[in-house]
Amino acid sequence: MTDDGPAGRVFVTRPLPAAWLAPLRDAGLTVDVHEAEDPLATAELHARVAGAAALWVQLTDRVDAALLDAAGPGLRAVATYSVGTNHIDATACRERGVVVIHTPDVLTDATADLTLALLLAAARRLPEGQRLVASGGWRGWAATQLLGMELRGRTLGVVGLGRIGSAVAARARAFGMRIAYHQRHPRPEAAAPLEADFVDDLDRLLATSDVVTLHLPLTPATRHLLDARRLALLPAHALLINAARGPLVDEGALVAALREGRLAGAGLDVYEEEPRVHPGLLELPNVVLAPHLGSATDTTRRAMAELCSAGILTALAGGRPANALA
Ligand code: DGY
Repeated sequence: MTDDGPAGRVFVTRPLPAAWLAPLRDAGLTVDVHEAEDPLATAELHARVAGAAALWVQLTDRVDAALLDAAGPGLRAVATYSVGTNHIDATACRERGVVVIHTPDVLTDATADLTLALLLAAARRLPEGQRLVASGGWRGWAATQLLGMELRGRTLGVVGLGRIGSAVAARARAFGMRIAYHQRHPRPEAAAPLEADFVDDLDRLLATSDVVTLHLPLTPATRHLLDARRLALLPAHALLINAARGPLVDEGALVAALREGRLAGAGLDVYEEEPRVHPGLLELPNVVLAPHLGSATDTTRRAMAELCSAGILTALAGGRPANALA
């Protein structure tokens, strides 16, 4: 650190609007941006990060021990332009004294809105309606055409009543849904205003919900949390919504359940191997597929950028950013 502020180079792995990076430049840091959406090959990436004081990455970048070692001992912070940190080896960062910065809170509303959009579209069969209209095959109003699920009185099973899960539940309450939730420990302070019932057994929550929505981080313990066995517990009229992380669900098992009519529909914003989408999902009429748009509003993306730049500046000045991982 100089008398004027933090010094050093920040390597940014993908293009971002210059205005979002301005706080770093204004503070006197050198901002080195990889100006292409295609990721760098490992050798080139390692060469570019060498000597950096901070990295600004996104959820499609893997931050592992090899990358940290390539950056070298001057690396102080890794800021990820996401709330999720499953792409970062947090232990390797801790061992090297590298602080990990992420973007909680500011994307809660945007992600909850998108989750509700998936839920509503799946419940009212909008993809099927869109296909029908676009195909030119629509013959006009019909009494039993594309009957969907009415939400009032239905149970929304929220797996993970954290920030985003609670915001989704609050929105669903406005549609008259009853909220049940599961996670390791009850959260009475979050559940009370939602009148949400804690279900201590995930299997029971799945079996008794009309719509299940996932709001959990991806960890080794939550990978394929919804495997073939658990998917089979959902009632045949139920919908599954996932705007958290794709690998929480066994995509192959989900395709089989949807194909065989053991599940009425799904709304997905995330996939097991993004940007690849299971080909079976592309063929199914009863799925709503979004390209990982959870936080994609201008307001939210700017706020996320502010959190990243502020966190980097604090870390490089020797402080502990409020949005650092514990
Ligand atoms: C996140 O921040 O983790 C989201 O998935 C981005 O939309």
